[in-house]
Amino acid sequence: MCLLRAGNTILLLLPLLLLFGQSLSVSRSFSIDYQNDCFRKDGDVFRYISGSIHYFRIPRIYWKDRLLKMYMAGLNAIQTYIPWNFHEESPGVYNFEGDRDFEHFLQLANDIGLLVILRPGPYVCSEWDMGGLPAWLLKKKNIVLRSSDPDYLAAVDRWMGKLLPRVKPYLYQSGGPIISVQVENEYGSYFACDYNYLRHLTKLFRSYLGNDVVLFTTDGGGISYLKCGTIQDVYATVDFGPNGNISAGFAVQRYAEPHGPLINSEFYTGWLDHWGWPHSVVATSQLTKSLNTILAMGANVNMYMFIGGTTFGYWNGANTPYAPQPTSYDFNAPLSEAGDLTEKYYAVREVIKKYRKIPEGPMPPSTPKYAYGSVTMKKLQTITDALDKLSLSGPVKSKYPLTFLDLNQAFGFVLYRTFLPLACITPIPLSSPLNGVHDRAYVSINGVAVGILERNKVLSINVTGNAGSQLDILVENMGRINYGKDINDFKGLVTNLTLGEYVLTDWTMYSLSIDEAINQGIIDEDGAAPEDPPQPAALSLPTFYRGSFIIPDGIPDLPQDTYIKLPSWRKGQIWINGFNLGRYWPARGPQVTLFVPAHLLSTAVPNNLTVLELENAPCSSGPCTVEFTDSPIINATVLPNYKQSWSLFDKGIMLGL
Ligand SMILES: *[C@@H]1O[C@H](CO)[C@@H](O)[C@H](O)[C@H]1NC(C)=O
Ligand SMILES: *[C@@H]1O[C@H](CO)[C@@H](O)[C@H](O)[C@H]1NC(C)=O
Ligand SMILES: *[C@@H]1O[C@H](CO)[C@@H](O)[C@H](O)[C@H]1NC(C)=O
Ligand SMILES: *[C@@H]1O[C@H](CO)[C@@H](O)[C@H](O)[C@H]1NC(C)=O
Ligand SMILES: *[C@@H]1O[C@H](CO)[C@@H](O)[C@H](O)[C@H]1NC(C)=O
Repeated sequence: MCLLRAGNTILLLLPLLLLFGQSLSVSRSFSIDYQNDCFRKDGDVFRYISGSIHYFRIPRIYWKDRLLKMYMAGLNAIQTYIPWNFHEESPGVYNFEGDRDFEHFLQLANDIGLLVILRPGPYVCSEWDMGGLPAWLLKKKNIVLRSSDPDYLAAVDRWMGKLLPRVKPYLYQSGGPIISVQVENEYGSYFACDYNYLRHLTKLFRSYLGNDVVLFTTDGGGISYLKCGTIQDVYATVDFGPNGNISAGFAVQRYAEPHGPLINSEFYTGWLDHWGWPHSVVATSQLTKSLNTILAMGANVNMYMFIGGTTFGYWNGANTPYAPQPTSYDFNAPLSEAGDLTEKYYAVREVIKKYRKIPEGPMPPSTPKYAYGSVTMKKLQTITDALDKLSLSGPVKSKYPLTFLDLNQAFGFVLYRTFLPLACITPIPLSSPLNGVHDRAYVSINGVAVGILERNKVLSINVTGNAGSQLDILVENMGRINYGKDINDFKGLVTNLTLGEYVLTDWTMYSLSIDEAINQGIIDEDGAAPEDPPQPAALSLPTFYRGSFIIPDGIPDLPQDTYIKLPSWRKGQIWINGFNLGRYWPARGPQVTLFVPAHLLSTAVPNNLTVLELENAPCSSGPCTVEFTDSPIINATVLPNYKQSWSLFDKGIMLGL
């Protein structure tokens, strides 16, 4: 056990100083001391108290503010993942700019005085689409991800060959903030158990980062996870939350590492949410009690998350049985989604204070929020009306349905069209017998919305219509599974649909470039087909809406952060000035408001909102508005039937983050 006292440090340092003289002041080292069960930084006993922050969930302009707040809480380190698919969206096309400029993020951490624990994957889980693996890996349909499948390894090698040379200058030994680097992520929870893969990664990391860097693995706090998750010469750590027996958690680590520092790499400050499940909360008292126990043991800890942030756009992941995560990744963490200081933050700071001198000086304040009020929305075209403009690559025909990937589309929506092969005078089931709607399908016949199919939930609806009627199925990708054996998550109609006894064939598929169309402002009011038939009250065709608002003059310090709420809207996607803010689904909850960071807003020109409502906008029955408020709602009550259908999952299954 390490004794973290100043006196101890000086005693240990003196002989080293005598040995190396001046050279010690320039040689930076970070290593594991197996004899004394601790880390050594520049020869001194060292323990980290760290927090997770994902640069990819926070706008770049707020990186510094959030890091400073973490520093002021008394942390001496932060931890982040690097999601591969965020940086290599198409094979060989890399993006390290703007919000993806992780080097700038590392530099900021360094400047503020925070060390960094880096988790570059290649798989990261993280409630992120496909756990950070690029969907294009699935072009080889039977690829075994996270294994020594040669095609997988070739892609990993190419990516790491781009990434790790950028990481290297930021290693502690090179004068940067990175003290340790994780290999893979909770690999022991994955079925493949391929030691050759872990060995390959270790060699790869060493070849780029050198032999001095501390490499580690992380696995769930159970001995069974360590079996496939740990590998020789890579330090094994564990993760567990504040509810269990802390000593038992570390005893699991000791099983793999009889000596060396105790490390909880993910100590859960809160927990993730799923659409339709009650909002997760971890009590502050429970968290601080367990944090105190961990720190009193002299263990190293990383709080996951210290700030969760937002999963903008289409980037969220999902768990199995299919349960996608919402846009907010607040996580009930000490800093809120918007970076606000919570009572949990102050309570954690009080605990840390007992073990470490915490920085003095003024606390950076929570950013102010502004309620801009209601914005009237105007109906634009439906997806069907705008099809030509949205389908830049034009339709593709195929006897059987193709997946998103076959159509070269990663995210968003694809329209599948065919014609009823028979007259459905009485209701006939339109079904996905193999549960192949990935993930939600908005069905219309001759321009009339008739129902919704949903993965794992609604596999069949009854339809009527004349033979030859046009059947349109808009399929939404709600986020790829990020954990477990089902991460090879193909999107679209991944199996055949049937109408009664018939397999539906002869599809025309429209890959939709909705984000591009919105950015180019090419969805308009005038293009609505005059013959759009009247819709049944409960549903309407997926439709775009637009509104704009001006930020008032004469109020100082605007624009400020805000939240957007869509009262009585049901489900869809929302863009602000062309930025894809994320998914809204107040009809299912628990998230009701979406965080809107100020930098997206303009004070000089009107701000433009675009909404794609998939089910039914409130516009025919009442005020067609959305509303900007100054406080978040992410914990609305969810329908009990959803709660029930997930209760088994809720209780039993250990989720890797
Ligand atoms: C916690 O775990 C330790 C080590 O496994 C064990 O000795 C102790 O009895 C446990 N405490 C409780 C309250 O279960
Ligand atoms: C479809 O209609 C049949 C016959 O009316 C009925 O038995 C069945 O429950 C309906 N299925 C659905 C999914 O509504
Ligand atoms: C659809 O059914 C046909 C005929 O049974 C089969 O050959 C094809 O593979 C199926 N397609 C999908 C995507 O399941
Ligand atoms: C909003 O749209 C209007 C009209 O197209 C345009 O003039 C304005 O610049 C847009 N606002 C922003 C912030 O892009
Ligand atoms: C949601 O959270 C707020 C703020 O913490 C709390 O006041 C409110 O009671 C919660 N609502 C529900 C339905 O849990």
